[in-house]
Amino acid sequence: MEKNVHTGMNRTGMKASPIDAKALLEVQELQESAPAPSPTADEIRAAYQADADAVGTVPPPTSIKGVLGVAAEALTGHKMHILLDKMGERAAFERAGTRLYDAMLRKVSAAEHLPGGVTVAGLREIRDEEASHFLLLADAIEKLGADPTTQTPCADIAAVQGMGLLQAMNDPRVTIPQALQTLLDAELIDAASWELLIELARQFKQNELVDRFTVALEAENRHEATVKAWLSAAMAEVASVG
Ligand SMILES: [Fe+2]
Repeated sequence: MEKNVHTGMNRTGMKASPIDAKALLEVQELQESAPAPSPTADEIRAAYQADADAVGTVPPPTSIKGVLGVAAEALTGHKMHILLDKMGERAAFERAGTRLYDAMLRKVSAAEHLPGGVTVAGLREIRDEEASHFLLLADAIEKLGADPTTQTPCADIAAVQGMGLLQAMNDPRVTIPQALQTLLDAELIDAASWELLIELARQFKQNELVDRFTVALEAENRHEATVKAWLSAAMAEVASVG
């Protein structure tokens, strides 16, 4: 069945039930006039924040190459483990991006009509570039003497962030335009994050990485423009009457 956003019995808004809305506002007023609980929710959060450890660590280098990486660190005055952490983050996000496009390909294969000029070949091309970016990062991490299978702290956080996008994409009710919006969210993160990673690699005087990452950024800029154009056309299509 072709899915589309249509009007129906959505009763989530307060205006769907004026009597309940009034009762809800009265409760809110009561809460605001009541003495604040002690400790407040903000105080509890602050206590957790003060007590919390960092999200994981970056392991020390174990190979000769890794020791060379540390030598490079001494030369540039920058902490190599920070670059490795951010490369791990990018690898995690590119892996999530590949899975996002895999899910999109499954979705479009079941669709009767693809809006906005979306094509399976176009999606597959982007999917393969996301996967190649993951491999590029794994190779670059290895060349710096680190282990690309390590879940670094920033990789851990990126994986959690990516879960929301994957959850949205894998929801069977999600329409093609809604799925395109999800892809655009990922592409905007991709493009900005590659830019920042290039800046960081430049500070470490990793010229070869800067060149390879710049090629990846160019691909990401293309992805962003393509997905945005698909979404724009798809929205125009679904918004038009008749
Ligand atoms: Fe991308």
